[in-house]
Amino acid sequence: MEQGKFISRKAFLRLATMAAGAAFISIWNRLSSRNKLLSGKPLTNSVNTAKLGAGIYWFDNFIIVKSASELKVFSNRCTHAGCRINREIDGQLVCPCHGSRYEAASGKVLQGPAGLPLRVIPYTTDTKSGEIRFKA
Ligand code: FES
Repeated sequence: MEQGKFISRKAFLRLATMAAGAAFISIWNRLSSRNKLLSGKPLTNSVNTAKLGAGIYWFDNFIIVKSASELKVFSNRCTHAGCRINREIDGQLVCPCHGSRYEAASGKVLQGPAGLPLRVIPYTTDTKSGEIRFKA
């Protein structure tokens, strides 16, 4: 056998322990996040809207549409097949998958194939801070 091709038993055990630890952490993280997703419980969100001007604000799971007189929170999931709506054109929320369009102010369908309006997410408002809270 050639010298230098083998590592010491101590080094091997150290590497094996580190690999096992990394594998354990990876599996634990996957199981933890899977359990969160499988629980089906929506996460509680809070957004301070006091300083937001009128406009459309994009988040991971929801869209906030604020006008001078009203604030709405919509799910960003298209009601056709669940794609994430991610852009606005001329006041319309547009789905990138099959082109459904929703009126930003109300969430109603302006163009299919979606047949249902965007899901409106109810929220509560902290009148002192202007923070809204909701589950999405
Ligand atoms: S998923 Fe949005 S139009 Fe089909």
